[in-house]
Order: sequence, then structure tokens, then C-alpha cells
Amino acid sequence: MVRIAISTAFIATVIGLASALSLEQRAPLKASLKKISTVSNSLNIVAHDQARLNHYFKKSPVEELATGTAPATNEIFSYLAETKVGSQTFNLIVDTGSSNTWVGATTKFTAGSTGKSTGDSVEVSYGSGSFSGTEFTDTVSLGGTTATSVSIGVAKTSSGFEGTDGIIGFGPEDLTEDTVSGVNEVPTFMQDLVSQGVISSNILGVAFAPLTGSEEEAVNGELTLGGIDDTAFTGEITYTTRVAPYWGVSVSNFAFGSTSLGTTAASGIVDTGTTLLYVPTAVYNKFLTASKGKLDNTSGLVKFTTKPTSNFTFVVGGTTYTLTPAQYLIATAQYSNWGISSTSGFYTFINDGGSEAPNTILGMSFLEFYYSVFDTDNNRVGLAPAA
Ligand SMILES: *[C@@H]1O[C@H](CO)[C@@H](O)[C@H](O)[C@H]1NC(C)=O
Ligand SMILES: *[C@@H]1O[C@H](CO)[C@@H](O)[C@H](O)[C@H]1NC(C)=O
Repeated sequence: MVRIAISTAFIATVIGLASALSLEQRAPLKASLKKISTVSNSLNIVAHDQARLNHYFKKSPVEELATGTAPATNEIFSYLAETKVGSQTFNLIVDTGSSNTWVGATTKFTAGSTGKSTGDSVEVSYGSGSFSGTEFTDTVSLGGTTATSVSIGVAKTSSGFEGTDGIIGFGPEDLTEDTVSGVNEVPTFMQDLVSQGVISSNILGVAFAPLTGSEEEAVNGELTLGGIDDTAFTGEITYTTRVAPYWGVSVSNFAFGSTSLGTTAASGIVDTGTTLLYVPTAVYNKFLTASKGKLDNTSGLVKFTTKPTSNFTFVVGGTTYTLTPAQYLIATAQYSNWGISSTSGFYTFINDGGSEAPNTILGMSFLEFYYSVFDTDNNRVGLAPAA
């Protein structure tokens, strides 16, 4: 890092002020994120997440939960980024698990002078919802960055995205395959920023933070485009090679306190669009035994009779990541935002990820305590304790 900074300064000095200015413009830029809740029943969070998970391994649609009703999956926690498309501002879900950017779920898109229809149709399914419509290209601005001619899906119909305007996709380009008619893949917003020289590295840093009181929403997250925010984490970022096609990582050595829940490597996804932390079924079952937890059918979450004191740990890329009870238990002040009516018992973020890969999802419940780095340039994912 230091060496790059010195050589950058040196080159800038040599080739003059104009270059120095353009180098300065290409420093990482930040966008703040707002966490919102549209949840009335936590069963819907679980249904939403599981539908997404099933979609990741292309399984059949999620089975009905034990209550007998097929829950709506549009009730979620989301981190939204205020994104300008053309002359309009949209609240888009920040999603590292998908790669298309699209608008129109709530606020309708009106093409201005920069918006042009390509005439191609676009359609993406997320398991938990979908949209279809027409592809446009338009100018997109986020957190001080602006790219022109970005591929934008303009939804004619969408489901599962009530309370939001669509998605800004930060997943790998591969995931845009076969989403737009007539082309194989479309570049992502991040790729456009890099190719247009707005940012110099295809690196995204994500800082989330938990809601701590009874608030339903808060501006408490931050995206760094083109680099990382050194103030958002403590210690060192540990990187691990991405497992394609998602922002995938290999996760192993799950433990609850000193009890091993399984050492076999599981196939994980670092996913800002999933709420809970999902682990393989075998790990989940051992967790229930070790923690004396039970699946509570009313909430869809794990319930405890005695408040746990053990840490939950797992290993990614040789580094052990710890969640303490204060981190993995839902704060009682937040129960009503999860639609949990119970006043006794404790509910964890941990849920059953199934037995087919990918079966581990490091969702918001983990990412609120760990800064994450999605480094396309070096094909790797980084994690460090949040500051
Ligand atoms: C709760 O759900 C589980 C799993 O679907 C089911 O086996 C069990 O019978 C349900 N319990 C009650 C009390 O409905
Ligand atoms: C749980 O993890 C925290 C943070 O790493 C640590 O300070 C604490 O000692 C751990 N607790 C136990 C019981 O191991």
C-alpha cells in the first residue's frame, strides 16, 4: 500500500498537476446506506432467505412452513443505497448476491435525456422475488461516483420488492448471464466505474451495523467504491480466494463454545441481500443440541430456554470468525421489528442452510459485525472485525 502511494505521488509530480487531479478523483468514494425493515413476521424473513438460498442451488421452490400458509417474501430487512439514475433518485437494495441493477419496483422510471432503451428484454429471478422489463442504458450516480451508459433494468412487473425501488447489483458479472435478451452478459455498475476511469480498482468495501435500540431504520452502513475504508474495521483484513460463480468462500470448523459442530468445509456465499446466517443442516442440528435450542414454529427462528454464553465460531481462509451471544442473539428491543411477539426466550440469527451446496450464507447478521471486501481485481473476498 505504502509503496503504491509513494509511486503514485512520484508519477503525479513527474507528469504534472492535471494527472494529479485525475488521480485524486480516482480515490475511493463512499456512499451511506440506510437499513430498513418491512417485516411484520419473522417467518417471512426466513421464507425470503430460504427462497434465495434455494435459488442459489437451483432447487425447487421453498416448501411451505409448518404454519400452513405460504408466507409472502417481500418482508425483509434491506440496506438501501440512494442511487441516481438519469434525473431520478431510487432507493436500491445493495446486493452482492446478484449483479443486475434495476429500478421501478415502487417509483416508476421515466427516461430523461440520458436514458435510452436498448429494446432488449431483461428478466431476473431471485427465488424470493423477480422482475422483468426492458433494458435501458443511463447515467448512474452513487456516493460521488458517476458512470454513463450503465445497463439498467426497467421493471414492467416485479414481485417481492415492496418498499424498495429495485436492486443495485454488486455480484460478479457472471451472474448477469442470460438476463438480458440478445447478449450473453452485461457489465456491472462497478465495471462501468472502472472502465470509465471513475475508480481505479474494482474493489467494494461494505460496512453494516446492527440496529441497537427499538428503531426500525437507521442510516448506519457505508459502501466504499474503488477501495476500502481503513476506519471501518480493526486489525487486518483476511482475504480468501473467491469461489465462483458467487462471492463464494469456503467455511469450515464451526463450533459453539468448545463443542465442534463440524470441521468439513462448507460452500458459503457472502451475501448482503440475505438477513440471517445460514449453516449446513448437519452443523445446524449439532448447534441445536449443543445450545439446547429449538426451532420455534411461530417465528421460524431458534429459541433458547436458557440464555447462551458460548461464542459461535467458524473459519474462513484460515481465520476464525467469532460471534458472541450479544452479536448472535436478536436484541429484545428489536423483537417488534422482527414481528416477534414472545417476551421470553431468545432467538438467534442462525438457521438451517440445507445440505446442498451452497449451504452457508454469511448474511447481514454476520456482516453487521464484520467489514467485508469484494475484490474483483484480485478475485478474493476479505473480512475483518468491524470498527
Ligand atoms: C414445527 O415444525 C417442525 C418442522 O417443520 C415440525 O416437525 C413440528 O411438528 C412443528 N411443531 C409444531 C408444534 O407445529
Ligand atoms: C467470546 O469471544 C469474545 C470476542 O472474541 C471474547 O472476548 C470472549 O472471551 C469469548 N468468550 C468465551 C466464553 O470464549
